[in-house]
Amino acid sequence: MTQTRDWSIPQDLPETMVIGGEPVTAGGGGAIETIDPATGRIIGRFPDADANDVDRAVTNAKQALQGEWRSFTPAARGRILYQTAALIRADAELLARVETLESGKPIREARGDIETAAGYFEYYAGIADKLQGDTIPLGPDYMSFTLHEPVGVTAHIIPWNFPLVTTARGVAPALAAGNTAVVKPAEQTSLTSLMLAEILLRAGLPAGVCNIITGFGPSAGGPLSAHPDVAHVTFTGSVVTGKTVMQTAAEHVASVTLELGGKSPVVVLADADLEAAVEGCLKAIYLNAGQVCSAGSRLVVERPVYAQMMDRLVAGAEALTLGHGLDDAPLGPLISQQQLDRVAGYVDNARAASISVATGGHVAEVEGLEGGVFYAPTILDDVATDAIVAQEEIFGPVLCVQVVDSPEEAISVANSTEFGLVAGIYTRDVTRALNFARDVDAGQIFINQYFAGGIATPFGGTKNSGFGREKGLAALASYYQVKCVTARI
Ligand code: NAI
Ligand code: MG
Repeated sequence: MTQTRDWSIPQDLPETMVIGGEPVTAGGGGAIETIDPATGRIIGRFPDADANDVDRAVTNAKQALQGEWRSFTPAARGRILYQTAALIRADAELLARVETLESGKPIREARGDIETAAGYFEYYAGIADKLQGDTIPLGPDYMSFTLHEPVGVTAHIIPWNFPLVTTARGVAPALAAGNTAVVKPAEQTSLTSLMLAEILLRAGLPAGVCNIITGFGPSAGGPLSAHPDVAHVTFTGSVVTGKTVMQTAAEHVASVTLELGGKSPVVVLADADLEAAVEGCLKAIYLNAGQVCSAGSRLVVERPVYAQMMDRLVAGAEALTLGHGLDDAPLGPLISQQQLDRVAGYVDNARAASISVATGGHVAEVEGLEGGVFYAPTILDDVATDAIVAQEEIFGPVLCVQVVDSPEEAISVANSTEFGLVAGIYTRDVTRALNFARDVDAGQIFINQYFAGGIATPFGGTKNSGFGREKGLAALASYYQVKCVTARI
């Protein structure tokens, strides 16, 4: 690990929202400080928007729908998205640095996320002029065809774990399909979304087509999902907030995409390539310190390889040192003191329930980073399926190990939570892998690689993990409506 110890904060970070293409402060005058969770120092500030600011943003987005954006050819929309991808790449190092400072994640992960954000714009740029409808054969006396029209103003409520990439994931397909957008990034991590707003304008996006408002959930996100001029809300975050968003959107009959949490299992059968399985399990739970909706937070292991997997995972976890994301530490801090308390609370409860802690299980002190919020990489051993830590999303570097005696039991343990985001499996037996894919209720199945897939693969949940799909061509379904034109001739 290179100890650069250059934790300097870039100059000229955005401090204003972007509404109608203009820099805007909050009507109420308030600001939110954003914090480097590795040190606790303040690195920037952005406006604390309220319902009036939200209304202004939505009004701008609604007007922009009728403005010059409407006259753009689909190919011209695509060109703006391509240019956005290029400008993100040109600024990648700065964006990655800011993302690491705000979120704490290791810089190599932030760099990967920024490249993925550029990738979303590139991917959906290519589809902008290929979205087309059908003709419906009603016989010689009729002509019938469908149009793919934009749904209107789309709202995007973004979490703090993948700030820019989640914004890009929703905004790129929304713009490709001709919609306008209002984005509310998380109150912990808004800077890179504000930087994106400026990039979009430089790429030639007309003012008002993409507006970014910053603020807290109840005071800014709430009025956004409740706004009667919002046609669709794309939300990523907790189950409880997702339900609130869905309820408020229902008041004005807006559609929603909910990408909520998970308790995703990684099954390792006795015949698996253990090398690959160990590597996959460590990545599944320690990427971004476990603050990943699709984290593989349960290892479901067949008994013959249980002891071996435990040894290797404990060794792997103990080799992960904690440090500042800008030094590219193997593991960074959590997002906030609140999240640290939450994670510590879950592990303390597990200990109180006599679940054995194989490694970690405590808040970590990191030399030189005493103001940081770090938690040691943790493995909880032999956890029963009904234990709280096996059922609820912890959103931290905490792996629960569950032992099974057959591939069939692995499927039933995999299905034993209220979530259905991802299920992974390691096995050399293709029939077992595909039986698992058939029988597990989840939006994604990863076979022999955790976090398999990418921009082009549809992503979303079943059960409490939500509904609707993001990424890939499937995401576009949220962003156009089908109008059917039928003529008697
Ligand atoms: P949250 O779901 O409250 O926050 C996500 C976004 O929703 C943020 O932009 C927030 O400002 C906004 N929001 C909050 N309340 C709102 C409301 N009433 N109306 C509209 N928008 C609102 O999640 P939070 O509190 O940051 O984290 C709590 C837990 O949620 C985590 O420990 C984790 O388990 C889960 N979570 C899951 C994520 C995922 O990727 N699935 C991402 C973030 C959190
Ligand atoms: Mg922060």
